[in-house]
Amino acid sequence: MEIDLLIRDGQVVTAAHGTCPVRGRDMQELEVIERGWVACAGARIAAVGPREFVENQVEITSRTQVIDAQGKVVTPGLIDPHTHLIFGGSREDEFYLRARGADYMEIMEAGGGILSSVRATRSASLEELVASGRQRLQWMLQMGVTTVECKSGYGLDLQTELKQLEAVRILQQEQPVELVPTFLGAHAWPPEYEGNQEGYVGFLVDTVLPAVREQGVAEYVDVFTEKGVFSVEQSRRIFQRAVELGFSLRVHADEMHTLGGAELAAELGMASADHLLMVSGQGISALAESDVMPILLPGTAFSLRKPYAPARKMLEAGLPLALATDFNPGSCPTANLVLVMSLACLYMAMTPEEVFNAVTINAAHSLGRSSRLGSLEPGKQADVVIFGVDDYKKVPYFIGVNLVETVIKAGRLVVGS
Ligand code: NIG
Ligand code: FE
Repeated sequence: MEIDLLIRDGQVVTAAHGTCPVRGRDMQELEVIERGWVACAGARIAAVGPREFVENQVEITSRTQVIDAQGKVVTPGLIDPHTHLIFGGSREDEFYLRARGADYMEIMEAGGGILSSVRATRSASLEELVASGRQRLQWMLQMGVTTVECKSGYGLDLQTELKQLEAVRILQQEQPVELVPTFLGAHAWPPEYEGNQEGYVGFLVDTVLPAVREQGVAEYVDVFTEKGVFSVEQSRRIFQRAVELGFSLRVHADEMHTLGGAELAAELGMASADHLLMVSGQGISALAESDVMPILLPGTAFSLRKPYAPARKMLEAGLPLALATDFNPGSCPTANLVLVMSLACLYMAMTPEEVFNAVTINAAHSLGRSSRLGSLEPGKQADVVIFGVDDYKKVPYFIGVNLVETVIKAGRLVVGS
């Protein structure tokens, strides 16, 4: 087979068997090929391995673009499976209030927090949301992220929720990062339904979810299942309707309080249960019996100065783990997934092998894309990152430094040269 692109002589680092999630102890395993070659034909990977192996498999011609990755690390494109990418305004004032001791949930209960972003998102035009989303995706792409899950949830009315999802749809068409849209209408109580929670749940179930389905603008439905926000019962009602309509599920689970979000995720066979800072032993056991992907967001614990999720306990229980930024204007305003990998190593005692698996194959699996994304294997999409260091262990180690030199998305060079 004739190839279009050849990356040669890099330290090629990838999940070993790249279609299934890796769990527990297996998260320690990474395939590392020193002076490895990655050959791409069109949007796909054609061959991966040592030089002789790849040379025997494919045909390198004068038209093949060659990237010399000697002394560099070559990994799959990173995948961020939990973000709130699309929002109007920003909340730096709150950030500094929190820095001086104000509590995130108290700010929210006083009408700030998520509701302040709801006001700004309602008043933003579609074009403004697209423009700010474009800029943020540029940040992410420059840092090696090639696939991003994006939640709505700053509208809390039909029109604005659809406007956010429409912004995602437009961005998908015009820029290289692959986007996975999630409907998060159950993110907070909208002011219109003050004192009438059942009314809002009914509105979501009867009107908004069917409309989102009809428009075909979201793959997943998520709920902020949290004390003072959506109870487990209210969440279950929303999720059951979502399943009837054909959506897959993700949940903000046990973030600030131990509420049983993990158990609910296991009960309903969700794609992922996210946050889990306060997950109970029972919640971990329930997840261990399920196929739910736990997604940890240590950037949020860092930014909120809360205890981190018990990653080691979860791994000991045999769970798989994915990592994400939770990029949002309030609890975690960072778009840097590699920084999140550093935090996971430092504060959740994860190893470099575990964090690479967490942001590649496991993140892909949580988004239903592991047969196409998340590892460097023949037949998979050619999403590749080249870091300007000679060993993958140096990537989380140089905290907050952007080491990315080159990004390839679906066989196309999108960052670097
Ligand atoms: O994942 N927890 C709920 N939602 C976001 C925060 C959103 C915001 O503060 O705007 C989160 O932490
Ligand atoms: Fe979130």
